[in-house]
Amino acid sequence: MASSHQKNDLAAGFREQFKSFATEAIHVGQEPEQWKSMAVVPPISLSTTFKQFGPGEHAGFEYSRSGNPTRSCLEKAVAALDGAKYCIAVASGLAATLTITHLLKSGDGIVCMNDVYGGTNRYFRQIAAEVGLDVSFADFTKVEVLQAALKSNTKLVWIETPTNPTMKVVDIQACSEVVHQHNKDAMVVVDNTFMSAFFQRPLALGADICMYSATKYMNGHSDVVMGLVSVNREDLYERLKFLQNALGAVPSPFDCYLCNRGLKTLHLRMSQHFRNALAAAQFLEGHSRVDRVIFPGLPSHPQYELMKRQCTGCPGMITFYIKGKLANATSFLRNLKLFALAESLGGYESLAEHPAIMTHASVPENDRAVLGISDTLIRLSVGLEDEQDIIDDLKQALDAAVDPVK
Ligand SMILES: Cc1ncc(COP(=O)(O)O)c(C=O)c1O
Repeated sequence: MASSHQKNDLAAGFREQFKSFATEAIHVGQEPEQWKSMAVVPPISLSTTFKQFGPGEHAGFEYSRSGNPTRSCLEKAVAALDGAKYCIAVASGLAATLTITHLLKSGDGIVCMNDVYGGTNRYFRQIAAEVGLDVSFADFTKVEVLQAALKSNTKLVWIETPTNPTMKVVDIQACSEVVHQHNKDAMVVVDNTFMSAFFQRPLALGADICMYSATKYMNGHSDVVMGLVSVNREDLYERLKFLQNALGAVPSPFDCYLCNRGLKTLHLRMSQHFRNALAAAQFLEGHSRVDRVIFPGLPSHPQYELMKRQCTGCPGMITFYIKGKLANATSFLRNLKLFALAESLGGYESLAEHPAIMTHASVPENDRAVLGISDTLIRLSVGLEDEQDIIDDLKQALDAAVDPVK
């Protein structure tokens, strides 16, 4: 368990927190003056259509797919938290991936980090590649490997950091420099889902696009499926805004309301996720049935120094290898009581899952073997319950799991 000294020094050595983060999460885009009622909390605007003064003359909104007042509050708040000028909200994280990919045309190339969310891998391999995009994968933890993978047609470079599920950390600044030197118009995208806006600002590190599955930490309450895309470049925003409307993968006003509400406590939630996950990771590292723990907030993580340079802290994601075989992993997962065995992550509740069978089943088996997504790999999303209860649950499930030597 973390000592009180470590707890107080939780983010020691990491980048300083972004200035006025909490104030902006609470106030940007939420001005009561924008409503006739002066509502302090943005109302849920369900109307699909908006009255015009004359044909084409309106107060900013025409039709709810093109623009919605509740969605607009959320988009403004997220842009501020990403240090961005613009943000668009879409129906899911994968809808964000789809919308961004529509910035390309047939024949253009995508180079993607080789360890990414299984659905991103599936979309690029089974859909984008089928409609004429040239998709390849490379290990961006070595910048020279990324450099060698860039081609004359490369228009999009897709980074996820830390990667899902093996928690490799990619140097966003170094990768962005290499990509932009190769072609100044190529776009670097960072999937910032694991970190949230509180711990990492990809645009400030040279990326062109920051995207999220807001289903995770940004909403944080496991009750909304949504995606977010933030940019600084006006040309990119204009095109993304066009695609948001033209593709039509938009979120409901109710979901926008919930996600906007979730943002108000993002800073508090992320700090507590970090605290609980660090304590859980330290506990797991000392347990005899655990082979290896991968948590970027531990000095044992191979890219701990990069993590501290690039981020303001660490989310609640821990990956570990249990000793033994598949039976040991499944028996641990079945024995958990507080942690729910479920896909997804980033909510207030603790979740555990088996990537090879669950979230990453769509990654080809050979690729899983190369990436280390083995039968004994377990992924935890450490929630906001009391630290001791989290550790007690991990302990009792490890103790109750089938003995690897029997
Ligand atoms: C890192 C990451 N990116 C993208 C996605 C896709 O998001 P959604 O499920 O909201 O479509 C996920 C979903 O698990 C994810 O973990």
